[in-house]
Amino acid sequence: MLHGRKILLIIGGGIAAYKSLELIRCFQKRGASVVPVLTKAAEEFVTPLSAGALAGNKVYRDLFNLTDEAEMGHIELSRAADLVVVAPATADLMAKMAHGLATDLASTLLMATDKPVMIAPAMNVKMWEHAATKRNLETLKHDGIHICGPDEGGMACGEFGMGRMAEPEFIASAASDVLLNGPLKGKHILVTSGPTHEPIDPVRYIANRSSGAQGSAIANALIALGARVTFITGPARADMPIGCVIERVQTAGEMLKAVEKTLPVDGAIFAAAVADWRVTSASDSKIKKNKSGDLPTLSFAENPDILATVSQMKKQRPKLVVGFAAETNDVIDNAKAKLARKKCDWIVANDVSPETGIMGGAENDVTLITPTDTLDWPRMSKDAVAQKLAAEIAKALK
Ligand code: C5P
Repeated sequence: MLHGRKILLIIGGGIAAYKSLELIRCFQKRGASVVPVLTKAAEEFVTPLSAGALAGNKVYRDLFNLTDEAEMGHIELSRAADLVVVAPATADLMAKMAHGLATDLASTLLMATDKPVMIAPAMNVKMWEHAATKRNLETLKHDGIHICGPDEGGMACGEFGMGRMAEPEFIASAASDVLLNGPLKGKHILVTSGPTHEPIDPVRYIANRSSGAQGSAIANALIALGARVTFITGPARADMPIGCVIERVQTAGEMLKAVEKTLPVDGAIFAAAVADWRVTSASDSKIKKNKSGDLPTLSFAENPDILATVSQMKKQRPKLVVGFAAETNDVIDNAKAKLARKKCDWIVANDVSPETGIMGGAENDVTLITPTDTLDWPRMSKDAVAQKLAAEIAKALK
């Protein structure tokens, strides 16, 4: 399914454009959201109002609309999606794509995007068979554009042959294949994230400053590579990842149970900042100030170490277990010691001293430690760290 996936649907100007409205429905049925873009010619066949109403999203129409440019520039629009689908892809749009023209919004988006592109060609049989279209098709295939269809059949113009746009259901499932076809396709990966809250009484708890941002970014990066992700999170401030199963927990004990319930998995990434201790016997009622001025005393018990528990499982140990080491001093030495002590496969080490601004911030500065390598990555956004880590995970789980 495509829950949380975003599709930029470029509707070209052909009679088959009416089918693109049904295509919007097909994508939505699979859980994806659709942002429609209409070429000028497409507006002769479908109205922006109907495309926008069906999609439940703003429709983009013209490159030189200054309001849209101010709201969302064409570069951003072309990259906010997970996949760009062109349906119908007319002979004219295919020619523009093959030659790198950027003369209107649609062709500019297609030039600017860094996401996969799929086209569903639709045109008269003679246009499809024309030498120029054949050349363009080869160029587009060579450029890595995914081609869906066309079908053979009767056409609106009365002729018969190749050139009819593929059926919307077929385009939607071909698009799903493209989206879910990363190197981690078929792999189930568990990610823990966020802080845990260990209760003192019904209104107070012990927590830490983890925002959950790095864990969410890792889950998103793994999903983008096609993994099936189960995201087990404490009460985090960061946005939840999109397109995975989310299990919300409060305490370390609950997190361990949720992890055990999720096994077996191919990989497990323990990015949560789990509290090391819990209050031995949390009070069932709010602890009151006492008149004599006696201060309450809290006694602590050690929480289960989820990473160590899973790393040392005899049965159901995932093929790859990755831990994090958030340290404030001797980062690499401490992280290496942690790798050996907990028996995980990799440790992602980072310095969380307050002056780094990493805990709760948007950037991270990490070193990936494996039994054979120490990879020191430069400081970068948490999203970029997640993408680099996901790429390493994909190599390891190949
Ligand atoms: O020992 P320390 O808390 O520094 O270890 C950090 C790593 O261990 C992280 O990957 C964290 O998610 C994991 N951990 C855990 N369960 C705990 C404590 C830490 O899974 N109780």
